[in-house]
Amino acid sequence: MTVLCSGSIAYDYLMTFPGHFKDHILQERLETISLSFLVDSMNRQRGGTAPNIAYSMALLGDKPQVIGTVGEDFESYRAWLESKGVDTTYIKVIEGDYTASFFVNTDQSNAQIASFYSGAMSYAKDLSIAAVKPKPDFVIISPDDPGAMSRSVQECKDLGIDYLYDPSQQIVRVDPADLIAGVDGAHSLFVNEYECELLLKHTGLSEEQIMNQVQIWVVTCGNNGSKIRTKDAEYHIPVVKPEQILDPTGVGDAFRAGFVRGYRLGLDLQTCGQMGALAATYCLEQKGTQSHDYTTEMFVTRYRKHFDDEGKLDILL
Ligand SMILES: Nc1ncnc2c1ncn2[C@@H]1O[C@H](COP(=O)(O)OP(=O)(O)OP(=O)(O)O)[C@@H](O)[C@H]1O
Ligand SMILES: [Mg+2]
Repeated sequence: MTVLCSGSIAYDYLMTFPGHFKDHILQERLETISLSFLVDSMNRQRGGTAPNIAYSMALLGDKPQVIGTVGEDFESYRAWLESKGVDTTYIKVIEGDYTASFFVNTDQSNAQIASFYSGAMSYAKDLSIAAVKPKPDFVIISPDDPGAMSRSVQECKDLGIDYLYDPSQQIVRVDPADLIAGVDGAHSLFVNEYECELLLKHTGLSEEQIMNQVQIWVVTCGNNGSKIRTKDAEYHIPVVKPEQILDPTGVGDAFRAGFVRGYRLGLDLQTCGQMGALAATYCLEQKGTQSHDYTTEMFVTRYRKHFDDEGKLDILL
């Protein structure tokens, strides 16, 4: 019984700008916008939505698999994931290309400006979930090459596998018909507040229509927590206050990992959401998307400082 994480696999180049982007955007000059930000620091980190989610799931004791395509520069990243308990068997190297690269600049108010180069990721559409043996029992479809996302949706439907649809950053690039197909029949749908509005706009679907098509719909709202909806219930999940915020990148991925881990353990949705919130907070407290580290014991102890789990999380220990 495995979770297969599909999504981008990338290196993140994280930069910090010691000011506010908004102070340099001239409304009256938008036609000829030309900005260059001198940054204070730059780090290359391991990233990409699929390994980010898989990494936090592995910290929580799962053994997820990742599927995707990478460049020749991936070997040290593979060794790292394997050492953390992530199965990389289905990560394929594309000779002569680079692993996808995400360049993100974060300012003092945590506003971000980013660019993403696909590189080897553009071959992900040629992979196949049908080739994964044994057949996974749950697939996470997170932002990836748009062709790969549509192919994964179709394959999950054909193979009868439940999938979590997480179109996030790719909402603007995925064809509306493919977005509609992705939502229709998804086991669960995850977006942040902004992406939720975009999704409604691009698909033309109403909230009610979406709720009739998926079992679980989660909207994360940054420091306002998150909202989990099913046909008969709605839960508001508060945040776990971070000790410090070093970098917001990857917080959504960590949230998904915590949620899915709880869900796979058969825990109730409130608990799954709260596990997501705590997993997200751990990520916020470090620079990078896979720099946080904890044991399941540490996670449960911290969880119990904020939420009463009535012993349910003993299952993690
Ligand atoms: N400032 C914060 N303090 C505490 N928790 C936070 C904060 N920001 C985010 N979180 C947690 O992370 C979850 C996901 O955050 P958010 O809605 O910002 O995701 P996102 O926009 O998809 O992030 P990204 O795409 O940058 O990874 C929230 O529901 C919340 O639990
Ligand atoms: Mg996100």
